[in-house]
Amino acid sequence: MSVARGGRLAASIDAAMEALNTSVDVDSALWRDDIEGSMAHARGLARAGVLTSEEADTLVAGLRQVAGEIERGELVWDRAKEDVHMNIEARLTAIVGPVGGKLHTARSRNDQVATDLRLFARRRTTEALAALTDLGRAIVTQAEHEIDTLMPTYTHLQRAQPSRLSHHLLAWQEMLWRDRGRLEDALARLDECPLGAGAVAGTGFSLDREATARELGFARATRNSIDATSSRDFLMELAGALAILGVHLSRIGEEIVLWSSQEFGFIALSDQFSTSSSMMPQKKNPDVAELVRGKAALLIGSVTSLLVLEKSLFFGYGRDLQEDKRPIFDAFDNAIVGVRALTGAIATATFRRDRLRAALGGGHVCATDLADYLVNQGVPFREAHHIVGAVVRAAEERGVQIGELGRDELVQAHAALGGEGVASALDPAQAVERRSVLGGPAKARVLEAISDARARWG
Ligand code: ARG
Repeated sequence: MSVARGGRLAASIDAAMEALNTSVDVDSALWRDDIEGSMAHARGLARAGVLTSEEADTLVAGLRQVAGEIERGELVWDRAKEDVHMNIEARLTAIVGPVGGKLHTARSRNDQVATDLRLFARRRTTEALAALTDLGRAIVTQAEHEIDTLMPTYTHLQRAQPSRLSHHLLAWQEMLWRDRGRLEDALARLDECPLGAGAVAGTGFSLDREATARELGFARATRNSIDATSSRDFLMELAGALAILGVHLSRIGEEIVLWSSQEFGFIALSDQFSTSSSMMPQKKNPDVAELVRGKAALLIGSVTSLLVLEKSLFFGYGRDLQEDKRPIFDAFDNAIVGVRALTGAIATATFRRDRLRAALGGGHVCATDLADYLVNQGVPFREAHHIVGAVVRAAEERGVQIGELGRDELVQAHAALGGEGVASALDPAQAVERRSVLGGPAKARVLEAISDARARWG
């Protein structure tokens, strides 16, 4: 007798259909969650008086044995039994005998797999959050370490205004903090247990669904059996949050690639997180950052798959949903591996303070400060902008920085540029300190931001 095909169908299945139908190669990754859910269901059946408590105990003990076998790699997954659920039930029945056939009372694989996926999602989200926290902390530690390292900010990848490295690193951390919030929000929303929803319309057995939900650590039972068995927005939401995280990791990765080039030379990755070339003996490549950028593409692919999978689904389970596993499994794997590698790369990297500081010596990064100086002398900003623009043009023509122009040349542009405060306006270190606005790069502000970030990441 083939468990998966029941009595309705002939025992044999076409080979092409079996290849399409089977999912155990992928969904066996849900085994822990499947067994946890089955144990709770067995106890729930006993509470409902459908099973005796001895029968429930036998099932739970049998499931524990199956778990041990899987953990030790002893269970041979059988593709003919379709999926993880059927494989586990068949093995359980082989161990405990006919009582194994009672486990699936008042349950369908539809509410079973929906429950497994929520347990899985909760488990892996917790793991992703822990990894993300390590990354946040590693960045804050580097920000503390580099508190006195000055560097330019950039817009359009052109030097813009003076700042400090810590301020830049904390910008990375801000994005990741929001990623954490998105994952936590998704976790709160998926905190419902589908068991008892059955195939689509619940069950006539008097299950205490709230009690089963509590036993599995969920906040409550799902409210609607049709929704519970066919909605996967919790996966879309998580994959979405992970894709956004992936894009953020990719932005950081992009910067590490740029910064470790000879052209920038702002960062030196440790050997542990670098790779070489099979041909060019001199090479030390930032592959870690490039691979993380690559993972973002896969993460975007995962959320796209999940969105498209559900988009034309009627209300009630459709088998299309079997294809939700790989994208969400991949999304967690890719996000977590990327976060961990980037954490190590950042924690062990060295910032090249001389090069960062030297970058302030080009790009006329204090031009805005000079315009602001004129504003303080009563010149309207738009006019000041124009005047300093002409000063920059003059400096460019001579191939020097605006700070290297003589007093005469400055005064030619505007009389106030002969004043006392001009040197201070053009000094990058003072320019950073002036930016003491909330959210700015002045040292005191960044120290506040660091202690705030420390308190948040823990
Ligand atoms: N393997 C299926 C899935 O992952 C669960 C089985 C539901 N199958 C069914 N014919 N109703 O979604």
